[in-house]
Amino acid sequence: HQVALMNGQLQGRTVLVTAGGTKERLDPVRFISNDSSGKMGYALASAAADQGAKVILVSTIHDRAIPAGVTLVQVESAQEMLTAIQQRFATLDVIIMAAAVADFRPATVAEQKIKKTTDNDRMSLSLIKNPDILKTLARQREQQVMVGFAAETQQLIENATHKLTEKQLAMLVANDVSKKDRGFNADTNEVTILRPHQAPEALPMMSKTALAEALIERILPLLP
Ligand code: CTP
Ligand code: CA
Repeated sequence: HQVALMNGQLQGRTVLVTAGGTKERLDPVRFISNDSSGKMGYALASAAADQGAKVILVSTIHDRAIPAGVTLVQVESAQEMLTAIQQRFATLDVIIMAAAVADFRPATVAEQKIKKTTDNDRMSLSLIKNPDILKTLARQREQQVMVGFAAETQQLIENATHKLTEKQLAMLVANDVSKKDRGFNADTNEVTILRPHQAPEALPMMSKTALAEALIERILPLLP
């Protein structure tokens, strides 16, 4: 087992992992979200805890067994996720953004359930951009090692390389989500790891548990 080889290398470190798709409220009974299952985030939280880290899992999904050694912080929206991270930011050594953060949210949240209009067959939603959590945190960064994920359906390496630079990340896990058995909701994943000034490293298809261990192993040498 790979973990036995690493044994406790995150002892004394605090790792924050985000998981799940954010829910962006429209009214008291409706929201906009996405297909993210949270599986990758939970696997990463578990793998980091196995290495002795203090782990904070900021998640929109909380109907699942919390891995041993992990503290769950429940959030719903992108804004709540950003606030939850910022409150703890100074204490963190590693941030892994496995969550699928909604890029936009409804411009207004209706206080009452929105009614079906009688005089119009069309309805449009006005959306505004959510804060980019990684970009916002990059500006406040000190010792924190920041890791992002990129979900792409085309031009994987080009698009992901752009995100690595733009978000000033130590590592970006690039994920082709156009195929069924990787990424969103699958139990397996096949990714390419990007780091500044390093050639892309393509990993074979593996379980999200195995991938989480492989990623933690590659985060260790990035710690100051
Ligand atoms: N992310 C974030 N804040 C957002 C949107 C995304 O921190 N508002 C993070 C994600 O958690 C992920 C990384 O940024 O780790 C890349 O997310 P992705 O959706 O692939 O990239 P975007 O920058 O949102 O660009 P686009 O969706 O247009 O491809
Ligand atoms: Ca996005």
